[in-house]
Order: sequence, then structure tokens, then C-alpha cells
Amino acid sequence: MLLSARKLCRSFGNNQVLFDVDLDLQAGEVHALLGENGAGKSTLVKILAGYLRPTSGEVLVDGRQRHYRSSGEAEDDGVVMIHQELALAEQLSVEENIFLGRELRRGLFLDRRAMRQQSRAALAELETHVDPRARVKDLSTSDQQMVEIAKAITRDVRVLIMDEPTATLTENEVKVLFALIDRLRQRAWPFCISPTSCVKSSKSLTV
Ligand SMILES: Nc1ncnc2c1ncn2[C@@H]1O[C@H](COP(=O)(O)OP(=O)(O)O)[C@@H](O)[C@H]1O
Ligand SMILES: [Mg+2]
Repeated sequence: MLLSARKLCRSFGNNQVLFDVDLDLQAGEVHALLGENGAGKSTLVKILAGYLRPTSGEVLVDGRQRHYRSSGEAEDDGVVMIHQELALAEQLSVEENIFLGRELRRGLFLDRRAMRQQSRAALAELETHVDPRARVKDLSTSDQQMVEIAKAITRDVRVLIMDEPTATLTENEVKVLFALIDRLRQRAWPFCISPTSCVKSSKSLTV
């Protein structure tokens, strides 16, 4: 099992949102989490990705108990979450966003060439036309989402969590996203070096 949750509970004050949640994810699987507004979907995935602590229960990665104190610690395990409100720096370029906070360097200097190359490779893998030099503010929502996914796959993501990724997409953009999720899932099998599971929290699956 790549990632498991065991008896996760979470309360906010007197409001208990999660009751004994169990979940098992294996490499190459796609899971959809369904529930009405306020059901606790975001709360659950934020716990898995290290943004929130459970009140009780545990999270296991590769069978080892994890107590994340930050999302950075979850990312170190390959668990990456893309938030419903995309969190890109709008004024910066696509490639600057992909490496924001973990810029590649050569000696004292930024290695812009390597960052551009790796950004291009990630965007090509996603089969998107997004230009790494474009400003994020000039991109459509679906292209901004591609940048978030590119950011995740340049980080050796093993579990990719998307919180309501289709909420702001058109029908056609949803098809492109679902096809991409399927390609990422398949990538997990032949290589098995960087297995990718996707947890999607998406209302539109019921559409
Ligand atoms: N930071 C918070 N503080 C207090 N209550 C919260 C917080 N985050 C979520 N909640 C409450 O937890 C419940 C579940 O919210 P959420 O996980 O966002 O649901 P969903 O994503 O399924 O719509 C809601 O009642 C919400 O008001
Ligand atoms: Mg939510």
C-alpha cells in the first residue's frame, strides 16, 4: 500500500467533520472522493497532504506511520496536493512558478537553462501547448492547472491530490484533464520508478 489512512478523525471546535475514515491507495489507481458541500472532502485531503493535523487516527506511507507538521514534509514523501484555489504567482512566468522556492542553481547563479529545459520536459509530458516563458496571469484556468500539475511532476510526485479540479473548467477542458489523469496513472505501471496515484475530489464526476 502506497498511502493509507486509519481511523482518521478531525474536529473544528465542537464540529466533528471526519469520523474514523479509512482509505487505501496503491500505485496506478485513481480514486474519486464524492460528497456534498461541507462533507469534509477538503479536510481529509488536507490531512493526507500535511496541511492539517488529524484529531486522532493515523496516516501511513509505504506502511510507515507519518506525522506531518507541514505540507513540505508530505511533499518529501511524494504526496502533493493541488488546491481548489490555484496557488500560483500570477506575475511570474510559468517556468519561474514551476521552480518557485526550489530554484536550480549552478554555483552561486540560477541555472535558468536547466529550469527551462525541465519545465519544457514536464509540459511536454502533459502534452500541453503552454509556453514556459508565458506569464501565469495571461493563462486560462485550465492552463494554470496544467502548470500546477507540471510543478507536481517535477517533484517526483507519487500521490497527486486534486481538490475539485473540474469546478472551474469547461466540458472540453474536463475531458483533457481526465485523459491526462489516465496517462499519469498508466505511467505508474511500465516504469514503477515514480508511481503516481491520483485522488480527485470532484463534484463533476456525478454529472
Ligand atoms: N479551518 C476550519 N475551521 C473551522 N471549520 C472548518 C475549517 N475547515 C473546514 N471546516 C468545516 O468543516 C466542514 C467540512 O469542510 P470541508 O472539508 O471544506 O468540506 P468539503 O470540502 O467536502 O466541502 C465544514 O462544516 C466546514 O465549515
Ligand atoms: Mg472542499
